[in-house]
Amino acid sequence: MPFPQDRPRRLRRTPMLRGLVRETTLLASDLIWPLFVVPGKNVKTPIASMPGQYHLSVDKLVEEVKAARDLGVLAIILFGLPEGKDETGSQAYARDGIVQQALERLKAEAPGVVLMTDVCLCEYTSHGHCGVLKGEEVDNDPTLDLLARQAVSHAKAGADVIAPSDMMDGRVGRIRTALDEAGFSHIAIMSYAAKYASAFYGPFREAAESAPAFGDRRGYQMDPANAREALREVDLDVEEGADIVMVKPAMAYMDVIRRVRRRVDLPLAAYNVSGEYAMVKAAAERGWIDEKAIVLELLTGIKRAGADLILTYFAPDAARWLKEAHG
Ligand code: PBG
Repeated sequence: MPFPQDRPRRLRRTPMLRGLVRETTLLASDLIWPLFVVPGKNVKTPIASMPGQYHLSVDKLVEEVKAARDLGVLAIILFGLPEGKDETGSQAYARDGIVQQALERLKAEAPGVVLMTDVCLCEYTSHGHCGVLKGEEVDNDPTLDLLARQAVSHAKAGADVIAPSDMMDGRVGRIRTALDEAGFSHIAIMSYAAKYASAFYGPFREAAESAPAFGDRRGYQMDPANAREALREVDLDVEEGADIVMVKPAMAYMDVIRRVRRRVDLPLAAYNVSGEYAMVKAAAERGWIDEKAIVLELLTGIKRAGADLILTYFAPDAARWLKEAHG
């Protein structure tokens, strides 16, 4: 029934009508806030490349997580900056490692928040690669043992969800087995299933002090030009036991989010990464864009593309804005 009978504008006439037919609703409970924890006490150091984000000591982290929880952010993911780094990233699986300490305190002092941890060695290795080296290459299979140890030590310290981001082949299966054998069959895995070798991670690498000392990550992270391969990665992780799968980054990969959504019925997460955050912040600081409107539009777009969950540094701000909008 074409114009003049068919008039889509009828349903856009008032806020009530628009609300009635709105297809996608962003909720604070969709959001997962990534946080960077550092040794020490009373530390809250701004991260230059990510305005509004901080390096936090455990005591400050607990405060921030509680404040975010009160705004409705009910899940966080932790990244650790260890006291020291070595060839095999041993602080990643140390019982008193920085993430392990943070988990223990959060578990005790910030109930009601899902605690997720990033499992990867790049923040812990002296060379900044995501696994152990053989010559100049990351050696896949020996790395799996270390990732499994890291995952189990996070579970012991109180993690609810383990999120491997290293992109080694077979890591989801190995971590699943290790968790089960250690008595953690109830702990979930969110796999960074389709993780691209992206320039959008630049600000994060400054924040996490995890830039590779030589080379890049293209030998293990995916080629940004590939989408079918993302489905293959997702299928493998699902077979190996992933409970949630992730696409990362988000904004330049909306098509991948949609394709993965069609492929699996598992919860799907998308990571609105550091470079995406920094671009919005930079433009907003100059007054070139309206930050609040842009952020809510971007996050709604990621959800509309098919993501159920969004990892985003905007989580607390977005939660506050949603609260203002909906009461
Ligand atoms: C660790 C890891 C990275 C990010 C999440 N986990 C960096 C990388 O792979 O180099 C990036 C997150 C972001 O940019 O916000 N491997």
